[in-house]
Amino acid sequence: MPCRTAILISGSGTNLQSFIDKVGDGTLDLDLCLVFSNKPGAFGLERARKAGIPTACIEHGDFDDRESFDRAVAAVIDEARPDLIVLAGFMRILSPWFVQYYEGRIVNIHPALLPKYPGLNTHQRVLDAGDEWHGSTVHFVTEELDGGPRILAGRLRVDPAETADELQHRVQTVEHQIYPQAAGLVGSGRVEFVNGETWIDGEVAEKPIVETFD
Ligand code: GAR
Repeated sequence: MPCRTAILISGSGTNLQSFIDKVGDGTLDLDLCLVFSNKPGAFGLERARKAGIPTACIEHGDFDDRESFDRAVAAVIDEARPDLIVLAGFMRILSPWFVQYYEGRIVNIHPALLPKYPGLNTHQRVLDAGDEWHGSTVHFVTEELDGGPRILAGRLRVDPAETADELQHRVQTVEHQIYPQAAGLVGSGRVEFVNGETWIDGEVAEKPIVETFD
């Protein structure tokens, strides 16, 4: 049975689309059982509906605090019975309660070569620093923002003449390859979260898998 997978989004959902496309063409063996958004206008919800995936939306503005929102989200997620939760541009900081409740079962993609550049505006920060390499990293989610154990990173060489928007576009193209790939590895059981670390094929991984793109 393919791994039941819920995808959480807040926006355009191009990463979600890459999952939909790869499940559709048979190159990714996941059962996409729910797409959840905290924003009703998120275009990703449209993508999910078009693909026939169940959707749900709860707006965080209706809640007094982070944890009560997260508990409401978890109640909706649990109805879909996912084994894996994929954060794909879900622009909410998760409460410690949520992270502990789903420990080892949440993955995130962050547009930087972690541990460099956690947080926002990563592309501009990379250009400002004059870095040679940039990219994106898939990691398990822990309570440390963008700090959980890494699974897979995709890197590309920075062109110092490009704009942050151009760099972002190139990084997103990388994300559309590495995120389904990494989620597939978790879904198949080859990659696991054990005692706060990433294990790949039964061995602790000191470093993520790194793939280089043009
Ligand atoms: C992605 O580039 C992802 O790396 C980023 O949001 C974008 C969502 O795009 N996530 C973060 O910055 C999380 N810290 P999408 O909605 O088109 O998939």
